[in-house]
Amino acid sequence: MKATAKAHTNIALIKYWGKRNEPIILPTNSNLSLTLDGFSTVTTVHFQDDLSSDEFFLNDKFVEGEASKRVIGFLDKVRTMAGKDMYARIHSLNHVPTAAGFASSASGFAALAAASTKAIGLELDDRELSILTRQGSGSACRSIFGGFVEWQMGEREDGSDSYAVPVASKDHWDIRVAAVVLSATEKKVSSRDGMRRTVETSPFYDGWLQQTPKDLEEIKTAIIDKDFEKTGNIAEANCMRMHATTLGANPPFTYWQDTTMRVMQNVQQMREEGIPAYFTIDAGPNVKVLYLPEDEQKVKQRLQQITGVEEVIVSKPGKGISYL
Ligand code: DP6
Repeated sequence: MKATAKAHTNIALIKYWGKRNEPIILPTNSNLSLTLDGFSTVTTVHFQDDLSSDEFFLNDKFVEGEASKRVIGFLDKVRTMAGKDMYARIHSLNHVPTAAGFASSASGFAALAAASTKAIGLELDDRELSILTRQGSGSACRSIFGGFVEWQMGEREDGSDSYAVPVASKDHWDIRVAAVVLSATEKKVSSRDGMRRTVETSPFYDGWLQQTPKDLEEIKTAIIDKDFEKTGNIAEANCMRMHATTLGANPPFTYWQDTTMRVMQNVQQMREEGIPAYFTIDAGPNVKVLYLPEDEQKVKQRLQQITGVEEVIVSKPGKGISYL
């Protein structure tokens, strides 16, 4: 009753930004990401007869209270599915090159879902696993697969048609993503709270919902055609629109810091100088920059020189979950 699984994180090129059902996490729009090889989580789940509650260790430290609640709540779903009433010891190791302050909920819940279902004896296919993972953290359902992945929002209220599907494998297209880590980062509004506030109060949210399905259809074609300029332009514009919705929320907020904007300006400047590079930003101040392998030196150097940038970590397209 023990299993270990590894999952990689992913970066959304078309964002998931809003839920139509909070308890089982159904999104308001379909979205698309690229799984990255640079950041991963390895999780071991061991169900044991002699435990009277779940015990969660993150990077070898025992986690209590609020921080372990989401993990335990997720295991409750797994126990219900399996019809078994046993507690588990969970060991998660986050492989993030430094104390980068990157969110790990995508790789975290994908690895937890894979390891826990295997340990308890459930035999799920990738689609069923994606549906279950989605209920831990929305973006995590995409990390079941490698390469370019679409999370189809579905229509049904029970969530049975809301899951991720592969669009193109990691070997389809060798593009790079530089994660630009800022020295002073403070995430004040979680993605969960941020998207809720935006859906409930931002008058700009309707515009987001109107445009995003078009962005998604166009970017899928661009990815299949390996059209980098088109892919980058759509991803960057979609990111800008997502962040614009937060400015209309009540109270308004932004994830950007001064260094975030300096990085964005540098990326746009690189393009003017003839280097095809595009940015995207999730629910925090760090920036991810898309570029082609032949421009690696120039892009890395340029990003590292920006005041307030702590580190630049390069990823390639990564693979889906694996069992160790
Ligand atoms: C901005 O998946 O972290 O990164 O479903 O509430 O756990 P929950 O949210 P989460 O949200 C990610 C939001 C985003 C965009 C994206 O990854 O698509």
